[in-house]
Amino acid sequence: MPLLSWHNRDAALTDAARTKYRLLEPVASLSHGAPDSPNMLIEGDNLDALKALLPYYAGQVKCIFIDPPYNTRSAFPHYDDNLEHSTWLSMMYPRLELLRELLSEDGSIYVAIDYNEAHYLKVLMDEVFGRKNFQREIIWRIGWLSGYKTMAKNYIRNHDTILYYSKNAEKTYFNKVYLERKDFVERFSDTAYKALLSRLVDLGISKKEASAFMEAAQFEGLPERYPLEDTWNSSVYDKLNSIAVVSFSGESVSKMLGVEELKGQKSEALIRRVLQSSTKPGDLVLDSFAGTGTTGAVAHKMNRRWIMVERGKHAITHVVPRLKLVIAGQEQSGITKAEGWQGGGGFRFHRLGKPVFDENGHIDESIRFEHLAAHVWFAETGTPRSSRAAKEAFLGEYKGTAYYLLYNGILGDESKSGGNVLTRRVLRSLPKFDGPKVIYGEACALDDDLLGELAISFRQTPYDIKAG
Ligand SMILES: C[S@@+](CC[C@H](N)C(=O)[O-])C[C@H]1O[C@@H](n2cnc3c(N)ncnc32)[C@H](O)[C@@H]1O
Repeated sequence: MPLLSWHNRDAALTDAARTKYRLLEPVASLSHGAPDSPNMLIEGDNLDALKALLPYYAGQVKCIFIDPPYNTRSAFPHYDDNLEHSTWLSMMYPRLELLRELLSEDGSIYVAIDYNEAHYLKVLMDEVFGRKNFQREIIWRIGWLSGYKTMAKNYIRNHDTILYYSKNAEKTYFNKVYLERKDFVERFSDTAYKALLSRLVDLGISKKEASAFMEAAQFEGLPERYPLEDTWNSSVYDKLNSIAVVSFSGESVSKMLGVEELKGQKSEALIRRVLQSSTKPGDLVLDSFAGTGTTGAVAHKMNRRWIMVERGKHAITHVVPRLKLVIAGQEQSGITKAEGWQGGGGFRFHRLGKPVFDENGHIDESIRFEHLAAHVWFAETGTPRSSRAAKEAFLGEYKGTAYYLLYNGILGDESKSGGNVLTRRVLRSLPKFDGPKVIYGEACALDDDLLGELAISFRQTPYDIKAG
């Protein structure tokens, strides 16, 4: 397969593996609503955050929507295309790798981008996700009310691109999408209606004609609910679609919160369309470039679980207040009406904590049992461990093998290494299992013959934890 080459590609290829596992530390004062909520907002760099999520969420995420920086040639004061371009590719590669690990077998990933990097991103994603898993290049039209991106060189550019891949094309979850009247009608806010009308008049259409067009476009021949593919050639759909673009860029949350709009905020309707297509209620949705938190707000109103990561201060200044309003049912913009959203739920705010293992591979003393258990379980099985799993030495059984972890006096022995060393006494106190066993501990006092007889593989912490 042809591969993309760039400055420092080799380092980018090992970046995900080299990134340290860190703890995710909950911040109660910035969390909201139901305390047992599965939704997470993480403030920090997403490379660290995605790695930290792996032991808990690998293979669990149904849909990823990301809207990374578009690399519009402005990161460095003295523009150097090669440097900037390579830096962007090196930023994306390890993150895409980790995102792929987090996706479920039937999961989908959507990446919003513009012409600056779209074609390079396609090649990068072909490499990480596999060409056969490429599903669609989605054209995201920029409305004629909100303007064109550029008219330079005689050609108008009025779209961004969304690249849509699945983890496994043969197992991908698809949900038939229906269009409903309210999908269009709700978009005609007074402001949008008036703005559109005046634009038509500016274009030289008489006010009477323009109003008639608006009315017709709003209702004409539109059934209550119909599958998207049935509208393939419908002129009504075309008409409505041109208007829908306008309302997609409708009232922004920034306006609602009275703060300056952040560049690149996506419309809720766009993300709703993605989640309608690739998820069902209860599924887990992830956005690791959260911006103002549109993905989480939409997922929340659609009763999906969500995780968002944002490194900027707007994690606190924008995302927290936005989601707070959504939870309180006090936010009336975006898809609130269309989803009949009334409020409820919650989220837990997290910051990235210290690495689980230090430079020499030693476990940081303050690491609690359940964190190490998640790493051991993930290293052995490649599957996540529920954060609600019982806190006991027997971690569970996977494919006929039982796994145990002796750590931090889990057996009730608080002496320095007490209970962390596998002795006969400790062995007797462990839940019995008839079959092969893997036991992690600081040291082992049993001889090899006995271990063989009892079908025990002993692994020493931390050296044998491959996840480190
Ligand atoms: C284009 S904006 C996303 C806008 C978002 N879709 C919305 O609707 O508001 C990209 C965001 O990614 C964040 N970002 C960029 N690099 C990041 C990184 N390495 N880790 C976490 N966030 C990052 C930026 O701070 C910015 O807020």
